[in-house]
Amino acid sequence: MTKKLFIKTYGCQMNVYDSVRMADVLAPLGYRPTEQADDADMIILNTCHIREKAAEKVYSELGRLRQLQEKRTQEGGRLLLGVAGCVAQAEGEEMLRRAPQVDLVFGPQTYHRLPEMVTRVLGRVSGASGLVDTDFPAESKFDALPEEAASQGAAAFLTIQEGCDKFCTFCVVPYTRGAEFSRPVSSLLDEAKKMVATGAAEITLLGQNVNAFHGEGPDGKTWGLGRLLRALAEIDGLARLRYTTSHPRDMDDELIEAHRDLDALMPFLHLPVQSGSDRILDAMNRRHTAEDYLRIIDRLRGARPDIALSSDFIVGFPGERDQDFADTLKLVTEVGYAQAYSFKYSPRPGTPAAAVEDQVDETVKAERLAMLQQLLNAQQLAFNQGSVGRVVPLLLERKGKFPGQLVGRSPHMQSVHVQAPDRLLGKIVQVEIEGAHANSLSGRVQTDIFTSDHDMAAPSREIRTA
Ligand code: SAH
Ligand code: SF4
Ligand code: F3S
Repeated sequence: MTKKLFIKTYGCQMNVYDSVRMADVLAPLGYRPTEQADDADMIILNTCHIREKAAEKVYSELGRLRQLQEKRTQEGGRLLLGVAGCVAQAEGEEMLRRAPQVDLVFGPQTYHRLPEMVTRVLGRVSGASGLVDTDFPAESKFDALPEEAASQGAAAFLTIQEGCDKFCTFCVVPYTRGAEFSRPVSSLLDEAKKMVATGAAEITLLGQNVNAFHGEGPDGKTWGLGRLLRALAEIDGLARLRYTTSHPRDMDDELIEAHRDLDALMPFLHLPVQSGSDRILDAMNRRHTAEDYLRIIDRLRGARPDIALSSDFIVGFPGERDQDFADTLKLVTEVGYAQAYSFKYSPRPGTPAAAVEDQVDETVKAERLAMLQQLLNAQQLAFNQGSVGRVVPLLLERKGKFPGQLVGRSPHMQSVHVQAPDRLLGKIVQVEIEGAHANSLSGRVQTDIFTSDHDMAAPSREIRTA
């Protein structure tokens, strides 16, 4: 019998990938994805624990879902509630104490066991206490996940690496995702080929520390990310590759050379620096200086002159003084970002920085964040304006809000809105950029131009007929 599964995803792209795979795992039990929570037989919240109030938001969402669940029970039905992801991992049993209506609590490394968990829970009476599985099992979930995978469309995510051993002093990820682990190359190549066969023209490789990738190659040797990208770039029909998120310490020569040599590797890199102050970088345990970071950017630009950059920043880390913040602004000015994310430091329970006495006042954090965002927004707008008048290859990924509108991504990760027929969805077309806004561009599909703009270094294999 077909049942309906609704998954709500919070947090990073790795959670997005995990949600897709949870649906794959549950498909043999008859669960089919639905877009509406109201008529679902199972609801899973795939949660994120990275910043403040994450757990509180999950508990209030669970409060709302409890009503839906009770209504279903009164009607003689049953709605299963599951909590997955990093809040589930961090809270564990505590979640059942605070939200007893939850049937399943499971972490990022155990969702391959979902069929067994669901069968056990369904065998119990409604209202019996829920199951918790927040192990870090010795077996990898990737070995147990089904080979069958639903299509992710034109732009797909592929998790190649998980976990983190870096222990930045502000971050929960090493605790919620566990130790660093890389998948074997052969299974990644197989999964990527399947993605292309089901419509992917672009694959973004994912990992909390994606460039720390060190997977076992088919030759028995350890492969780094640069080598993996070279192998993936050979896959017929795979026009675009990206990877995220990287750590500056793992930008090795092989990876930088991949940016020089591979047309399919898009000229855009999210490389978080967090702060421009060496004192703060040291306190964060980032294990690089601002100067190290700038030299990496120089090397990347040497290899791929049109590469656009993005970063994450934290303002108000414990002990951050005006001078440290000024160093961050200086670094931003020196690099010139195409886009970036910035956050107020949020103390996370159990992390070393949360225990430091010298916490920065909330109003100071807010002021610094506003200043930094003003600078970053101005850089982003200037970058977008610089695209106007260019012809860029666009991968049309989805429908826009308005009739006849499609939305795609430029090689530089900009969202571009165009008027185009639906049959072009999933295709790469040449688009002349006409308008620039803070967060997106608008453009016109060039039906008669199929040669690439040299500046954008568009690979010839990206050009498909419109
Ligand atoms: N693995 C990536 C980042 C993962 S978390 C890396 O090493 O860069 C994504 C971003 O959230 C981080 O880059 C950081 O800027 C932000 N972040 C993480 N913990 C935070 C905290 N406690 N307070 C504020 N921002 C935080
Ligand atoms: Fe968190 Fe640092 Fe690991 Fe990134 S490298 S996931 S910020 S501990
Ligand atoms: Fe959030 Fe976990 Fe990703 S804390 S950012 S969902 S790794």
